[in-house]
Amino acid sequence: MCGIVGYVGERSAQDVVIEGLRRLEYRGYDSAGIALVGAHGLASDKRAGKLANLEKAIADHPLPAATTGIGHTRWATHGAPNDVNAHPHLGAARRVAVVHNGIIENFAELRARLEDDDHVLVSETDTEIAAHLLELQVQSGVDLTTAMQRVCSQLEGAFTLVAVDADDPERVVAARRNSPLVVGIGEGESFLGSDVAAFIEHTREALELGQDQVVTLTRAGVEVSTFDGRPAEGRRYHVDWDLSAAEKDGHDWFMRKEIFEQPRAVADSLLGRRSASGRLQLDEMRLSDQELRDVTKIIIIACGTSFYAGMVAKYAIEHWCRIPVEVELASEFRYRDPILDYSTLVVAISQSGETADTLQAIRHARVQRSKVLAICNTNGSTIPRESDAVIYTHAGPEIGVASTKGFLTQLVACYLLALYLAQVKGTRYGDEIDQVLGQLEAVPGQIEAVLEQAPAIYELARTHRDSGSVLFLGRHAGYPVALEGALKLKELAYLHAEGFAAGELKHGPIALVDQGLPVLCVVPPQGRDQLHDKMLSGIQEVRARGARTICLAEEGDERITPYADELIRLPRVPVLLQPLVAVVPLQLFACELATALGHDVDQPRNLAKSVTVE
Ligand code: G6P
Repeated sequence: MCGIVGYVGERSAQDVVIEGLRRLEYRGYDSAGIALVGAHGLASDKRAGKLANLEKAIADHPLPAATTGIGHTRWATHGAPNDVNAHPHLGAARRVAVVHNGIIENFAELRARLEDDDHVLVSETDTEIAAHLLELQVQSGVDLTTAMQRVCSQLEGAFTLVAVDADDPERVVAARRNSPLVVGIGEGESFLGSDVAAFIEHTREALELGQDQVVTLTRAGVEVSTFDGRPAEGRRYHVDWDLSAAEKDGHDWFMRKEIFEQPRAVADSLLGRRSASGRLQLDEMRLSDQELRDVTKIIIIACGTSFYAGMVAKYAIEHWCRIPVEVELASEFRYRDPILDYSTLVVAISQSGETADTLQAIRHARVQRSKVLAICNTNGSTIPRESDAVIYTHAGPEIGVASTKGFLTQLVACYLLALYLAQVKGTRYGDEIDQVLGQLEAVPGQIEAVLEQAPAIYELARTHRDSGSVLFLGRHAGYPVALEGALKLKELAYLHAEGFAAGELKHGPIALVDQGLPVLCVVPPQGRDQLHDKMLSGIQEVRARGARTICLAEEGDERITPYADELIRLPRVPVLLQPLVAVVPLQLFACELATALGHDVDQPRNLAKSVTVE
């Protein structure tokens, strides 16, 4: 949600900032802007719409050369996505420029105070007040670092702010509270980004900032302080992603590339999980065996696609560990006054590690003395940092706004967690755990087999260009898959799509079924005979009412053939693991249908990859 870039060094700041924004555009694409500081003073441009609009404006009206600059790509919160509300925002004297991610909650009060002092604020944003306040500070004679410390101390809410001062062209200053910001450390140059993708082509040495810290970037290096001016230290780390991981590799969309990366992502997420003696090990599991044995209830919290991974986890954990599991939308969690204590383990699933709803939910859980375990894909992000333990998924950077490999690797992490709990609590024998690990290790090859059917699935997707509505049915672990399949179509193709538990259909949703309605059915493996039979009945019910069924069923399942207008074959896997292979055709279907409809698959309208506001 909003991408932020900052640079000071020897290169063209415009080039570094624009390239950084390109890599962060997945975070928001309502508008983009840049501010450069050099011998000439401050120059800025900003445009509504995608980054390309800003690039065109700069090409038409070039900005002066500079080696210090900041940039922003916006996902609008306060004020419409137009040129005026785009960032950077400037102070009254055009001396300070600021970009911002997050929400300044007390901005109305601060704005009123500025207006009482005759400041004219031109935008509807909460950000512009920060530019005015910073400028007042530097005009009083302090440097931009002190100005930032003083201003941040007055702000409430969640924010990352990055600023430059026209009178101090060698310095970029940033601050963060509850909002992402990482520093890139180069030779004679320094970088800032909402995530490392912004600067990974220049340096892989990064610095993670703590809460309520200010960072000052100069060519000579980086200095960190607290909001009250005391020196502080960030945590240095080496980024193990390289640039190619953030490029499209010949695919038309990042999303398509990420779908095809899933065999590798799943394999990477399974790497190094067995000890020399063959026992399951989780490196970042900082909870002791005794603490895990004391767990009597698990609550999983997450948003969006990650929530559906949590729903699958419930089936696995309850079956393998016999611990009751609740799955809750993070945005609802703390408002229902959940019953939590030291014996409740809260599992927070978040690809980005920055989702504000999930972050606030884990903070609430920790205040109630529950332990929190994060399942996360982004090293150094806020959610794992604020958790007691973490299982990192190793999907690599996910750029497409709609999650794909992020989801699959979350599923892997959920299975690993369930098996680990079973090992610690002794609810499964070692050889049973070993058998499931073996089945998981076979999954990358099985996903490859599904991906080989991509041309047929694309063909099928293209025939649905005129569908107004699509339903998805599933049972048991296939139910969250149905929900995820529907979400993908909503997100990407802007189609009315609903996922249902197949058994629930007859209690209402079947009224939606009409002649020719496409219904995608996730058929459970035949091994779970009752489930399979019941699913078949559900399929017959919709077919009898004119639906066109597209069935996802395992190899060798011939009983489904008479009821499937279209059939997509899945490899044979146990029912609990079926989501790992069943969701892949649905991702391919949504990606291709959205492409056929002419939509921007990587950056669907109104969405952002990382939602850092509640
Ligand atoms: C946004 C994205 C979704 C994602 C959700 C949760 O809404 O558009 O694709 O599933 O956030 O994100 P997280 O990073 O917490 O998994």
